[in-house]
Amino acid sequence: MFINHKLNRTLLLMFAVLFTPDRPLKAESTEELTPREIALITAFGPWPIPVPADAGNEFSGLAWAEDLGEQLFHDKSLSGDSTLSCASCHNPGLGFSDGRTVAIGKRAHVRNTQSIINVGYNRWFGWDGGADSLWAASLRPILSEVEMQGSIPVIAARFRHSELIEVILRNTGAAEVGTDEQLLVTIGKLLGAYQRTLVSPQTDFDRFRDAVLSNNSIEQQRYPVAARRGLKLFFSNANCHVCHFGPGFTNGEFHDIGRPFFTTIGQVDSGRFDGIKRVISDPYNLTSDFNGTKRPADIRKTTTVKITQSNFGQWKTPTLRNLTKTAPYMHDGSLSTLREVVDSYAEIDPTRLHSQGESILKPQNWSDQDRLDLVRFLETLSH
Ligand code: HEC
Ligand code: HEC
Repeated sequence: MFINHKLNRTLLLMFAVLFTPDRPLKAESTEELTPREIALITAFGPWPIPVPADAGNEFSGLAWAEDLGEQLFHDKSLSGDSTLSCASCHNPGLGFSDGRTVAIGKRAHVRNTQSIINVGYNRWFGWDGGADSLWAASLRPILSEVEMQGSIPVIAARFRHSELIEVILRNTGAAEVGTDEQLLVTIGKLLGAYQRTLVSPQTDFDRFRDAVLSNNSIEQQRYPVAARRGLKLFFSNANCHVCHFGPGFTNGEFHDIGRPFFTTIGQVDSGRFDGIKRVISDPYNLTSDFNGTKRPADIRKTTTVKITQSNFGQWKTPTLRNLTKTAPYMHDGSLSTLREVVDSYAEIDPTRLHSQGESILKPQNWSDQDRLDLVRFLETLSH
């Protein structure tokens, strides 16, 4: 009986091996997409999409400015003691991040270095949205005591008589670069122009999404079955898609997902709550005279932002593109793998979330396989 059974199984297996094509032609029903899922998937593309101009940056989109910005990005003379460049922390070889839990600049930081790939799509910058443009977010690290400890007169003096200034004047037709502060703002804007060009390429998910849209079943079959199951979990009542929405996998808003707000050095990092205060008091925000384009919609973004108690413990929803290159995760780098991230969502404690806020997050009864599948899906958002 037992032997027969085994033999039958062997025969069946041989049959299966001989007659099953490399990839199953028809996905098992559990992997088949529902009309709701198809509609949702299409909203997560196409990719890439055009990057908006850096708000208030008159150099945004100009090739010469992007080139100068790239040079500056690697230039250590932007730090007070000339030991750190932007690329020291936003390392191109590490997904424009540093692989560390929290950044180490001139002092120990309490936050994880954000990757700046796809940063041009952001509406607010920093984990707390403390800057309202890419150029203002680029001035911050230069002047920060924690990060680069530069000062306006020291940095301006280093560049005032440099070749960089000659190139700027030649391209703008201006007679001079202005005050030290104006010179530094120009440097910030060149850095902004460069970073806006950092866009990630198409991924397996994008090819799958396009194939779903064009009804190309051969191309659809190339997408791993496990990722397809993970995708269904992403769009399930776990509601990942609600916050990580659209082609950039972020709604650009701030949310509390229950991560601890005590920092590695025992202080409280309140996230968006202080971020709003920071952006309003930032001398380089879009309401300032340094705004070089003065588009009313840009300015309105900053004049209408309001602080509320629920901003406490909220962080910017990060993109989910390029995750395989940007570990560890979260504003404090407290989760080191995607599996840990998925576990933390599955085991979320709803009592720790804002009462009026994030009721869309609830614990999930996911099996080990489910969690692996969701991780597999997230991996297909990297190239
Ligand atoms: C010491 C490491 C370090 C250095 C040096 C550094 N950064 Fe950062 N960067 C960070 C950290 C940490 C954050 C998150 C900061 C926050 O949330 O306030 C960040 C955030 C950013 C952001 C916001 C990204 C987003 O998605 O919102 C931009 C833009 C940025 N950095 C650009 C730069 C530029 C340009 C330079 C060089 C002038 C630079 N950084 C130098 C660590 C660094
Ligand atoms: C309520 C909005 C919301 C929902 C729903 C949500 N997220 Fe998030 N997600 C965030 C925010 C905000 C952060 C950053 C939190 C922090 O830094 O402490 C984040 C961070 C992440 C990160 C880390 C990214 C990085 O670069 O550090 C991953 C991965 C992630 N979420 C995946 C998911 C998955 C998978 C789901 C569904 C199970 C999900 N998210 C549901 C808002 C949300």
